[in-house]
Amino acid sequence: MTLHNKLVLEHIQKSFVDKRQTELVLQDISLHVAQGEFVSLIGPSGSGKSTILQIIGGLVEPSAGSVRLDDQDVTGKRGLISYMPQADCLFPWRTIEENVITALEVAGVNRDQALKQAREWLPRIGLGGYEKKLPQVLSGGMRQRVSFLRALLSEQELMCLDEPFGALDALTRLDMQKWLLSIWEQDQRSVLFVTHSIEEALYLSDRIYVLSEKPTLILQEFQVPWARPRDSAVTLSPAFQEMKQAIYSSMQRGQVVS
Ligand SMILES: Nc1ncnc2c1ncn2[C@@H]1O[C@H](COP(=O)(O)OP(=O)(O)OP(=O)(O)O)[C@@H](O)[C@H]1O
Ligand SMILES: [Mg+2]
Repeated sequence: MTLHNKLVLEHIQKSFVDKRQTELVLQDISLHVAQGEFVSLIGPSGSGKSTILQIIGGLVEPSAGSVRLDDQDVTGKRGLISYMPQADCLFPWRTIEENVITALEVAGVNRDQALKQAREWLPRIGLGGYEKKLPQVLSGGMRQRVSFLRALLSEQELMCLDEPFGALDALTRLDMQKWLLSIWEQDQRSVLFVTHSIEEALYLSDRIYVLSEKPTLILQEFQVPWARPRDSAVTLSPAFQEMKQAIYSSMQRGQVVS
């Protein structure tokens, strides 16, 4: 069965102009995320991963190429995806629960209903009791969890997450990964997930795109074979270690494999 493609990027190119110098960051990026698929992007720092998500979210215009959502050209359009940016962008004057519901409010959900949802979910990410506090009292990892919850509760069918667990300690990170997987296994949204961690990408994804250094191309695509629901025990298997090594080698070689 061929799954419907939720997201398609076709020949995306992006140059930035800085002090009259033009720098080509994304050379040619074509990728897709099928309906209900969990796809990760992995690549060196500065390769343009965040830029790709910003282009998908309509926050940055590509220099060339197109973004298609459900077969519609949405290049440059905002508000169509659930997006968790790399910097958490919490509003300092809003309480934690009010921060969680911003996307819901923008989508027109009744405020009391949205707050009820936020109050149900906050304890599940270890932030019970913080509902009425301001973001300034939170650690970096706690802020990240609030920002993640905000993206999760916003109801768009495609979720783009930019290193959502980068600031977390190993145990909290594993908890959040398991939690994300269980939610995703239930509601089968499409996910595009950016990470620096090969293990994290392998544990969570159906497919992984490996990006080159800039000017960035897709070096290789890996299909991840493990069944769903996926047990964290797969990370201990020899096959997991082999795939990890294969992805690492692909990044080191830096050559396109088709
Ligand atoms: N608004 C901008 N103006 C000029 N250059 C930019 C702008 N935004 C990004 N860049 C450049 O584009 C490149 C890619 O940046 P981006 O943040 O997308 O990388 P990344 O892969 O997300 O890196 P990291 O893994 O460190 O988060 C960098 O060289 C950066 O300096
Ligand atoms: Mg980034």
